[in-house]
Amino acid sequence: EQKQYFSTELLAWYRRNKRDLPWRRSRNPYYIWISEIMLQQTRVDTVIPYFHRFVDKFPTVDALADAPEEEVLKAWEGLGYYSRARNLQSAVREVKERYGGVVPDTKDEVFSLKGVGPYTAGAILSIAYNKPEPAVDGNVMRVLSRYFLIEEDIMKGSTRVTMEKLAQELIPEGAAGDFNQGLMELGALVCTPKSPGCLTCPVLAHCAGRAAGVEDTLPVKKKA
Ligand code: ADE
Repeated sequence: EQKQYFSTELLAWYRRNKRDLPWRRSRNPYYIWISEIMLQQTRVDTVIPYFHRFVDKFPTVDALADAPEEEVLKAWEGLGYYSRARNLQSAVREVKERYGGVVPDTKDEVFSLKGVGPYTAGAILSIAYNKPEPAVDGNVMRVLSRYFLIEEDIMKGSTRVTMEKLAQELIPEGAAGDFNQGLMELGALVCTPKSPGCLTCPVLAHCAGRAAGVEDTLPVKKKA
């Protein structure tokens, strides 16, 4: 049915069409973590050179934990939102102290790290460890709201909970990392905020939003 089709087609599409991004060349949880923090408020094209320089300079949890904060902030210069860099370093220090430098692989442990919210925790667990956890951000909510014609306000916490539950149900057996990245990739490349590329969409055939002709009114986002 609609869910099965989505999961199967999206996963196949991602595997054929994924962009070759530096953090996709490794399953190193520390690299995945850094990439997700950088990508929170910054575009992929901007992040790429920063990511290369950052992991070159701080190649391991221990290297980042032991670096002077001022060097970390210098490597972050130009990315903005410097609290991301400060939180990242303090969380990495915690991983060094508490977990011997190994990024933990459970939801509670990852979620409790400074600067790591539900989205980032889900991204790390699914991409690095292939755990069946959802990673729902604004892009993913846009994709799901359109495909399943969900007209609830995405600013509401209850809508996020609905979306997280749905996103978790959709994860194909053993393919959480690729599926979650497929959702992100579809939102970035095809199911875009304006003028979505429905004609090249791998799940167009069962997209309820498109069938109703309302894809460009979704997601519903009321002012706070
Ligand atoms: N945006 C957030 N996470 C991403 C990822 N892993 N790849 C590409 N874009 C992203």
